[in-house]
Amino acid sequence: MTSEEKGADTILELQAMQETGEASRNPTQVQMSQIVLPCHANHCGELSVGQLLKWMDSTACLSAERHAGCSCVTASVDDIHFDHTLGVGNVVNIIAKVNRAFTSSMEVGILVTCEDLYTDRQWRVCHAFATFVARRTGAAKVQLKQVVPRTQIEQLEYSLAAERRRMRLIHAEIITDLLESSTAQLGECQEYQDAVPAERTRVESVELVLPPHANHQVSTFGGQIMAWMENVATIAASRLCNAHPTLRTIDMFHFRGPSHIGDRLVVKAIVNNSFKNSMEVGVCAEAYKGGEPLRHINSAFMTFELLDGDRKPRTLPRIRPELVDGKRRYKEAIARKKIRLDRKYIISCKQTEVPLSVPWDPSNQMYLSYNNVSALKLMDTRKNWVLTSEKSKVTLYTLEENHMLCFKVEMYANVPAEESFHLLSDLRTRKQWDPHYEECEVIQEVDEDDILYRVVTPSVSKGGKGKDFILLASRRKPCDSRDPYLIALRSITLPTHPPTDEYNREEILCAGFTIWEESSSVTKFTYYNQATPGVLPYISTDIAGLSSSSCSIFSACSRFLEANIESLAAAPPSAC
Ligand code: COA
Ligand code: ADP
Repeated sequence: MTSEEKGADTILELQAMQETGEASRNPTQVQMSQIVLPCHANHCGELSVGQLLKWMDSTACLSAERHAGCSCVTASVDDIHFDHTLGVGNVVNIIAKVNRAFTSSMEVGILVTCEDLYTDRQWRVCHAFATFVARRTGAAKVQLKQVVPRTQIEQLEYSLAAERRRMRLIHAEIITDLLESSTAQLGECQEYQDAVPAERTRVESVELVLPPHANHQVSTFGGQIMAWMENVATIAASRLCNAHPTLRTIDMFHFRGPSHIGDRLVVKAIVNNSFKNSMEVGVCAEAYKGGEPLRHINSAFMTFELLDGDRKPRTLPRIRPELVDGKRRYKEAIARKKIRLDRKYIISCKQTEVPLSVPWDPSNQMYLSYNNVSALKLMDTRKNWVLTSEKSKVTLYTLEENHMLCFKVEMYANVPAEESFHLLSDLRTRKQWDPHYEECEVIQEVDEDDILYRVVTPSVSKGGKGKDFILLASRRKPCDSRDPYLIALRSITLPTHPPTDEYNREEILCAGFTIWEESSSVTKFTYYNQATPGVLPYISTDIAGLSSSSCSIFSACSRFLEANIESLAAAPPSAC
């Protein structure tokens, strides 16, 4: 992407954040603008990331407190990718707003852009999501008021926030499992000639938490801790390359416990591994007071690069890890590199940039499931659908946008939402109402909410081959009454199920149901499909108005649900 395109992207994001100006401004939105002064910069004249993290944390905290009406603490920050560095004289603009409140926690979206005052150009530096928790005043948790999304973009962020929350709450567990399984597969650490001993990069630094480092509740600001950690990590990284490195990524992390004025904060860092053009530095922060034992506050993993004069990454020296812990961290850094790439590639990429079928493996399962659900949520917020046909109380709409054709089918049935969700989320039941589902087998029940299926559909031409699809079905119950039940489908590739001569292997990029409870007995169903070449032949005659088979199929779906709801109440299907 050219820098101009990136600029255009940013302006759209800015518009999205600011929406229609002062009058209808989101009540939780907070903005901060700062000129980068020499005192904020490192010796190369670039804004120190630590300073930027402090500004981001303060802006986000003020947004959270504006919504909560009480004091809040930083609980976690999702992966941050820094697209650009900023120089002295540039202006940093930070916009933060609460995307969604849960019980006592809130997700805050933070957009950082840089502005060149002389050329009037603006570009994106990073976009981050932080979770803040309203501080308890007594024994009970604070119950936050709900955020009411007012625009289409806010509705999308509201909806995706639930999916991101799900991912961050199981993040630590998932990473531990993945590290255990993937490091077991890695052999001995590779020995490189002229490798730098990791010990040479080790840094330990202590900080005394003083009033300027703390908020009005005497707890240390999360941003201050992140800044101290970034400072120590940069020293470790510089020791490996004997030059000034650039911070590219900070992995998702969690503040495990608070620290207060008077605490001593010990921050330790070491280069865990260096790859050709990047290195991973691990940092851990512990607090103590007087003779009390150390409390583990935070651990973070940061990726640095060394850029040449043209801002291209330079080759880095290799590392020789220390025995035991060093070797373990060396291997874990390799595993984390793969996990990080999956996460960035699958989660942050725009839908149109993700290839149709992503290979399924245990290390990207959580991210593919996120991608599956978020693609459907994105489709659900699209506007400008065009009514194409209507029959038997089933309506077909189409949408042509950005060179893709999507269709949606809407219908109502006299059935309760939850039971319908259970029935429809077992794809094997679809044969009973959809003649396109000739065969459907469960390949693997990955977890309670994610199942892999193989689906066979008949040939569209006489005597032609049938088609088969390998699908990930991810289902979600609503977090609250503002969410629908959701069943998302997308294709994946599985080494155990390669394409065969018997069938044409086809792919689905994004499809599935959203299910809204209209009343205790009436439910609204919307089925979406982003038409890929494999799906188009089944639907094109309907879209062209030559037939109404989709309406008939979904009308059969409604009859199927009405006829089967009672049996479901007696015996839920095993795959759900
Ligand atoms: N990421 C995001 N949210 C998290 C989280 C994580 N890793 N871990 C917990 N939470 C959320 C929970 O989901 C819950 O949200 P909900 O009430 O909306 O359901 C909320 O935090 C409180 O969870 P609870 O189980 O009541 O408390 P806890 O014992 O897990 O404590 C913190 C969570 C954040 C309050 C606690 O870890 C803490 O005090 N951390 C330090 C915060 C701090 O001082 N930060 C500044 C820098 S030191
Ligand atoms: P782990 O050891 O499993 O990686 P920790 O939370 O103990 O997790 O530490 C996080 C990172 O902090 C480590 O990967 C390492 O890079 C760095 N670190 C931990 N302890 C030290 C130490 N004593 N000296 C230097 N760096 C350390």
